[in-house]
Amino acid sequence: MAESQVFALFPTPVMRVEQVIDAAQVQALRDGLLGDAALANHHSQELQHTRILGPGDQPELLQQLAQRLGPHIVELGSLLFGEKQQWGIKEMWVNAMHTGGRQAVHNHANCFISGVLYLSDCDASANTVFMRNLGGRDYVFGNTHAGAAVGPFNADKWIGPPPAAGDLLLFPSYLLHEVPVNRGGPRVTLAFNAIPQRLDAWGYSISFSS
Ligand SMILES: [Fe+2]
Repeated sequence: MAESQVFALFPTPVMRVEQVIDAAQVQALRDGLLGDAALANHHSQELQHTRILGPGDQPELLQQLAQRLGPHIVELGSLLFGEKQQWGIKEMWVNAMHTGGRQAVHNHANCFISGVLYLSDCDASANTVFMRNLGGRDYVFGNTHAGAAVGPFNADKWIGPPPAAGDLLLFPSYLLHEVPVNRGGPRVTLAFNAIPQRLDAWGYSISFSS
């Protein structure tokens, strides 16, 4: 048989940065922000969020953090849009998930790059799951059974390596994701959304502000 070539068309970049902040910075963020995690999630009482953090909340701590995250956001942005440009973090909030908590499938509106910074270790059961778009109004045919191998061309879901406190995950905001039921201890994350300064399609440009 002649040798064949397979091209993986149009892949989706998901970026992982191990230990983007150290243990002391993790602790400082937990101490500074976690006291506010008081809003219960609509779907899960065991999941609480802070309100969206504003410029008045822990300005020094969050400014330092934004500086740490910035270069990675720029790097993923250049994969998505082909250009290194300035990005802004539009909003941040903290999620505190207790044993039995979960986060329903969702994506993030009105932004381009979203991120999850782990402020605790994370039980394998509650690792973030990314998934393909759920069906529209077309009938769906599948071949999913014990004898069918799952690979990048037919998988519905993707789960990254086990995250540890201080790890960062960045992904395009349209990507659906969820957190399955947490069978482990408390899972604390800081989530955020980022926007580029400007997108330009041959002179027709659009800018964004938070
Ligand atoms: Fe999310």
